[in-house]
Amino acid sequence: MMASPSKVDLEYCQQLPKVELHAHINGSISPSTLQKLAVKTNSSSDKSVKETLNEIHRWRTLVEKRERQTMNGCFQTFKLIHRVIKDVKAVSMVTYDVIKEFASDGVKYLELRSTPRDDATNGMTKRLYIDAVMKGIELCELDGIDTIVKFLPSIDRRMSLEEAGEVVSLALEYQASTDKCVGLDLSGDPQFGDVKALVPLLQRARNHGLKLAIHTAEHQGCNEESRILLGIPPDRIGHGTCLHPEAGGDQDLVDTVVRSNIPIEMCLTSNLIGGAVESPASHHLKYWMNKNHPCVICTDDKGVFSTNLSEEYLLAADTFNLSRHDVWDMSEGAVDCIFGGETIKGLLRTIWAKEKIKLGLGEAGVLNGESL
Ligand code: IMP
Ligand code: ZN
Repeated sequence: MMASPSKVDLEYCQQLPKVELHAHINGSISPSTLQKLAVKTNSSSDKSVKETLNEIHRWRTLVEKRERQTMNGCFQTFKLIHRVIKDVKAVSMVTYDVIKEFASDGVKYLELRSTPRDDATNGMTKRLYIDAVMKGIELCELDGIDTIVKFLPSIDRRMSLEEAGEVVSLALEYQASTDKCVGLDLSGDPQFGDVKALVPLLQRARNHGLKLAIHTAEHQGCNEESRILLGIPPDRIGHGTCLHPEAGGDQDLVDTVVRSNIPIEMCLTSNLIGGAVESPASHHLKYWMNKNHPCVICTDDKGVFSTNLSEEYLLAADTFNLSRHDVWDMSEGAVDCIFGGETIKGLLRTIWAKEKIKLGLGEAGVLNGESL
């Protein structure tokens, strides 16, 4: 049987102009960047780094087969990656490579997030870490990579109040001195940390104009925590897997999210591999799409979960039987959810309008004269 001309396929998803709003830099590291590190390590014959790279490679092999893992396994893998990305040079290199890879997947606007780290043995401080990320972004600009990139420093839930405060202060400082730092992310292993204590800091950041992207409801049993975080309120929600009653959440959480119209960043493969959802069909994207709620398809950690944004769009389309027009609407709708400001939104809308014609998508619901 011939495939329907209007069926969503990988090529269509690759050609689609896209916005990526939920990408952790170190979780996005690709096998080719890891390979570069391996080559460098070979020359210095550092055995522990070599062993760590092998462990990351073993994880990738399981994930490539789409074998379901545990959330603990995911967080162990982040730790392994941190062990090999331990100086500012490596941070700039990963940032540069990640941007280039998103750009070649058709991402026109990218918000990267990353947790500033200190590493005394390599002279790295949180400030130098952010500088290294900025350098990676600037090098991409100098090389003419055609993707607008913004940055959100991340607070890890396990940070002390003092450390989290340092991240907020740095974020505010970089927001004032560059146009790149537009918000803050709250992430980290959801099994740990007292987020209640972080709320005044997050509120302070928001009052000073930083946008907040907050991971919440990643698993069941954290309704009270979600209630506290939604009270801030965040400007976007990461995952929100278990906000709704059918997934162990509460109706009042859903009502708050709907009332405040807080977009949700949806990361299908991440949730499947990490075991947060049972199957693609049971992913909460369906629940929120049925409500016409703003949902943005994202990758989370394209390296750790062996995916890319085009594949995530395709997975959503295949799972929920979305038409080319539905998929287009999702990518276009993501523009409304960026933290980069109204001028950039306008610029992106112009790009989307041009790409729509190139893709042969005419009036709404019509592709090359065929009704979808
Ligand atoms: P980095 O901040 O660039 O080092 O990226 C990796 C970090 O992102 C991890 O150590 C976690 O703190 C965070 N992260 C990545 N994916 C997730 C997720 O699904 N939930 C919570 N935190 C995450
Ligand atoms: Zn995340």
